[in-house]
Amino acid sequence: MTSSPKTSTFTNQKWILTKRPKDEFDPDRDVELKTEELDSKSCLDGNKDEQDLVLVKVEALSVDAFIRTMMDATAYHGSLDLENTLPALGYGTVVISKSKKFRVGQPVLGMLGAQTYARIPAKQLKRKFDLPLLPTSASLGLLSLTTGLTAYAGIFFVPSKGPRKGDTVVVTASAGAVGSIAAQLAKTTGAKVVGIAGNKNDYLLNELKLDGAVNYKDKSISLEDQLDEACPDGVDFVFDNVGGDTLDALLERIRPGGRIVICGAVSQYDSGSVNKVDGQTVQGPSNYLKLAERGAEMRGFNVMQHMHKMPIAMFFLFWYYVRGKVRMTEHIHNGIESFPKALKSLLNGGNTGKTLVKVKNM
Ligand SMILES: NC(=O)c1ccc[n+]([C@@H]2O[C@H](COP(=O)([O-])OP(=O)(O)OC[C@H]3O[C@@H](n4cnc5c(N)ncnc54)[C@H](OP(=O)(O)O)[C@@H]3O)[C@@H](O)[C@H]2O)c1
Repeated sequence: MTSSPKTSTFTNQKWILTKRPKDEFDPDRDVELKTEELDSKSCLDGNKDEQDLVLVKVEALSVDAFIRTMMDATAYHGSLDLENTLPALGYGTVVISKSKKFRVGQPVLGMLGAQTYARIPAKQLKRKFDLPLLPTSASLGLLSLTTGLTAYAGIFFVPSKGPRKGDTVVVTASAGAVGSIAAQLAKTTGAKVVGIAGNKNDYLLNELKLDGAVNYKDKSISLEDQLDEACPDGVDFVFDNVGGDTLDALLERIRPGGRIVICGAVSQYDSGSVNKVDGQTVQGPSNYLKLAERGAEMRGFNVMQHMHKMPIAMFFLFWYYVRGKVRMTEHIHNGIESFPKALKSLLNGGNTGKTLVKVKNM
């Protein structure tokens, strides 16, 4: 930031989408880092619908799988237009305000985008909360809508019957942000919990203290054989983040009265799979008739459908955290420059736990 007695200039660096990924997202080909100068006197001048604008200095950004889905022309979460800033949840501090809701210096939370300064209507922001005993980044991880609250909803609000003592539970992408919390929440019920991830058995068994671990990247033994070994009597409850062949293998092993919760399908988002035509179709489960055969249920959800129950989810996530029952591992990348590579790393399984970008402003 440079300043004179009358005006200041803020240098915003933002990642924009320049090309729709053809198959796999390429951080060097599909996005570009643009720099723009924002003048403190005029940068909040907008039309009358934008009377309530604030400028936020971004401090940290959440890197989530949904950002990849929004790069496609047809997307479940809405498609991002070319030349627009990549979406990202984040927090920061208000540096200029035209709004009565927020004053300069207040910490705020919202869809700030992958950039260093966000010009945003106050109604799209919330006051950032900091709870005692929690790291300041908890608002983007443990207590974030797209992470801890999604995990809580998928384990306890979505299925007709949540996991319970005696059940065998399998969580996919269980070393990732949502999956690691979902697996630990399932453990609190007394169920036996098996995690699936790529080359992360040590983390699943020794850090998350799960009862079993399956490495879907192991070339020496098939996913199916590993599942049969870890879950010899089948599976009562599945929290699925990956879809594809893994979901089929779990359908094959679902027990009578089993419950499968569809949280996402990350194996399909950046796969360039032959079944993925222009980002519109994904590989569906061919084993779905096992649901009929075993009287099992498969139910999907979007966390937004459970907003009214979020205070309960927040309370229990906080409670489990302070009692040491749920931990949140953070995988931190530094600098706005790292944002696209952090996203690519998440899609390749280069992350463990919650992927965050700590932004340094010029
Ligand atoms: N329903 C909702 O409202 C909602 C809300 C938020 C997120 N979600 C979903 O939650 C899931 C997790 O999202 P996240 O942001 O927390 O990401 P994340 O789990 O932190 O990262 C994605 C993980 O997926 C795994 N992965 C990548 N490609 C894979 C493949 N081909 N097969 C199997 N695993 C693969 C990687 O781990 P490995 O090392 O194990 O490969 C990676 O760690 C996504 O499906 C997302 O869409 C749903």
